[in-house]
Amino acid sequence: MWCFIFLSFLFVAVNSEIASYQPEQVHIAYGDNVHEIVITWSTFSDPKQSIVEYGIGIGPLNQTVKGQSKIFVDGGRKKHTQYIHSVKLKNLAPRSIYVYHVGSDLGWSDEFWFRTPPVIERWQPTLAIFGDMGFENAQSLGRLQKDTHQGMYDAILHVGDFAYDMDTNDGEIGDAFMRQIEPIAAYVPYMTCTGNHEEKYNFSHYKRRFNMPGDSESLMFSFNMGPLHIISITTEVYYFLNYGFKSLVNQYEWLENDLKEATDPKNRTERPWIVVMGHRPMYCSNSDPADCAHNETRTRVGIPFFHIFGLEKLFYDHKVDVLIWAHEHSYERLWPIYDFKIFNGSYQHPYVNPGAPIHIVTGSAGCDENHSHFDNSPPYWSAFRSTDYGYTRMKAYNKTHLYFEQVSDDQQGAVIDQFWIVQNKRV
Ligand SMILES: *[C@@H]1O[C@H](CO)[C@@H](O)[C@H](O)[C@H]1NC(C)=O
Ligand SMILES: *[C@@H]1O[C@H](CO)[C@@H](O)[C@H](O)[C@H]1NC(C)=O
Ligand SMILES: *[C@@H]1O[C@H](CO)[C@@H](O)[C@H](O)[C@H]1NC(C)=O
Ligand SMILES: *[C@@H]1O[C@H](CO)[C@@H](O)[C@H](O)[C@H]1NC(C)=O
Ligand SMILES: *[C@@H]1O[C@H](CO)[C@@H](O)[C@H](O)[C@H]1NC(C)=O
Ligand SMILES: *[C@@H]1O[C@H](CO)[C@@H](O)[C@H](O)[C@H]1NC(C)=O
Ligand SMILES: *[C@@H]1O[C@H](CO)[C@@H](O)[C@H](O)[C@H]1NC(C)=O
Ligand SMILES: [Fe+2]
Repeated sequence: MWCFIFLSFLFVAVNSEIASYQPEQVHIAYGDNVHEIVITWSTFSDPKQSIVEYGIGIGPLNQTVKGQSKIFVDGGRKKHTQYIHSVKLKNLAPRSIYVYHVGSDLGWSDEFWFRTPPVIERWQPTLAIFGDMGFENAQSLGRLQKDTHQGMYDAILHVGDFAYDMDTNDGEIGDAFMRQIEPIAAYVPYMTCTGNHEEKYNFSHYKRRFNMPGDSESLMFSFNMGPLHIISITTEVYYFLNYGFKSLVNQYEWLENDLKEATDPKNRTERPWIVVMGHRPMYCSNSDPADCAHNETRTRVGIPFFHIFGLEKLFYDHKVDVLIWAHEHSYERLWPIYDFKIFNGSYQHPYVNPGAPIHIVTGSAGCDENHSHFDNSPPYWSAFRSTDYGYTRMKAYNKTHLYFEQVSDDQQGAVIDQFWIVQNKRV
């Protein structure tokens, strides 16, 4: 017995002394615009340097940028520690393939690459979109990795709920998940929002592991891709009120201002499509007890009793085109809806000048909680639904035509739903 305790002590002591400077968990995101890329990675010891060496094409990696690292200690018992490095590359040339590696004199990563967009007017950005992808049972992972290497996507939107959970096993599941998405996230900007599974320790794993534009904690931000204005919000401030009501109010005010800027006539003409992502849906027809299956979803009508800071009216008033949610481990597309009323042009495909936001719930990329199920018959506002594992693709063809399709992993990548949104008389 004593021997065992002594040996365990010795093992821990020795183990914690093994320094590891090898970079891992490499992932990228847009910086202040699509001509900037922020590269983030982890090391378990502190190499005291955070360097990216990069170049265009197969030439030498003859450009160098330095950044900084911050120590991140998981909130669990083991105080699992890592150094999270981030470096921003600015003024990237358009329509180029950049090759890069990250690290320090003490260790370098593999080489990765990313593409920069062409001249904005001619760009047709294509994105893969999903939520609720775990470390275990990540059904869509292989297909997303392969699609990414074939150059199908300009960016990814991961609509909350990562790893299940990033803090599990003192953060080791978070590390394993970040390694597992590296074959996607080191090649295309991996843009995120928080879900309920990130709640532990006041969302610290999410805030530290991802480096999104704007707000330094990655909780709310927006970015432009060609004709798209994409907004990422956290729905969790409506549910974990224990972390403070102020964050909810801050976000509401930030969002109101962001929508005001995005809908300024000049901006809306240049970037007519406004797409919002957040984790918990306002509507869903699933059979579980989630908030979206009730009538008065917090994000829709506001916090209980007071009914203030509801978001549906804000989105409707600013003619937001698409609202993308996850949380339910299934796929559901709605007819254009506002306050339970569906709009002219409903029951009609393609959606032509729909007049209210179109909601999509896409949380079926796979996790250890498996599928969600639906109520027996779809309500009048539900246009299409499926419990297959899978993910969504979105392509902005131009300022009037936005295309979506839903990929099924259960059916070997078959497209099970596709739809166009056509807006030709907005302004
Ligand atoms: C890097 O190398 C390429 C190819 O040799 C060259 O065209 C480019 O000018 C170099 N860039 C810098 C910053 O030295
Ligand atoms: C949680 O984090 C937010 C910022 O992300 C901060 O404003 C708030 O005070 C924190 N709450 C607690 C209880 O630590
Ligand atoms: C137009 O959008 C940009 C950012 O995308 C913003 O900085 C600017 O303030 C907006 N213009 C107006 C008049 O709101
Ligand atoms: C939700 O409330 C509205 C307005 O009170 C009502 O018309 C509608 O039937 C309700 N829907 C559900 C699903 O309960
Ligand atoms: C919807 O269409 C009907 C019939 O064409 C028309 O009478 C009605 O005013 C329209 N409603 C809206 C909100 O556009
Ligand atoms: C998910 O599916 C797996 C494999 O069928 C099963 O072993 C596991 O118990 C399921 N988990 C839940 C939460 O239903
Ligand atoms: C926009 O794209 C759609 C789909 O490819 C096409 O039918 C339409 O003509 C395009 N519009 C313009 C103005 O290029
Ligand atoms: Fe969730």
